[in-house]
Amino acid sequence: MPTARIFVATVFGGALDVAEEIAPLLREAGFEVTIFDQPVLEALTDPLPDLALFCISTTGCGDFPGNFVAFVQALDERGAALQGLRYGLIAIGDSSYPTFCGAGRRLDGLLAEYGAKRLGERLEIDAMEVLHPDEEGVAWAERWIEQL
Ligand SMILES: Cc1cc2nc3c(=O)[nH]c(=O)nc-3n(C[C@H](O)[C@H](O)[C@H](O)COP(=O)(O)O)c2cc1C
Repeated sequence: MPTARIFVATVFGGALDVAEEIAPLLREAGFEVTIFDQPVLEALTDPLPDLALFCISTTGCGDFPGNFVAFVQALDERGAALQGLRYGLIAIGDSSYPTFCGAGRRLDGLLAEYGAKRLGERLEIDAMEVLHPDEEGVAWAERWIEQL
């Protein structure tokens, strides 16, 4: 069975809600799904999954939430061979901050730098505008999974 791993960066749990709503859709599509809410880099690299999805909120001034700092530090410092990795990315932020979705955008850049290939467009959910980020995430994921 192909594997899908979902990586979550969150402070208040919103990004985890998005991940938990999308996981059943991936299971229905035939993937064995695991959610990582305290991820280390090895969870992505050993071995690479068939598919990865990142649900990434931003905190501070465009910063990664604390639960994701070790993952990004490891990627920044050690790098990783991500050629062959296919991924999707949902960034969650608030457009009243000048660094809107800064963490998700930065991770997207890092993944590309190390050779991973994003499938489809990055979704950016604006918590200023959207009452239920999980509903927007699920609607996007339905279209995303169809394109896989
Ligand atoms: C202290 C604080 C700092 C934030 N900084 C940013 C930011 O720099 N950029 C952004 O887009 N959103 C920022 N946000 C908004 C959060 O990303 C948004 O509320 C998001 O829905 C939180 O998701 P979570 O429930 O997964 O933690 C900030 C929120 C807080 C409380």
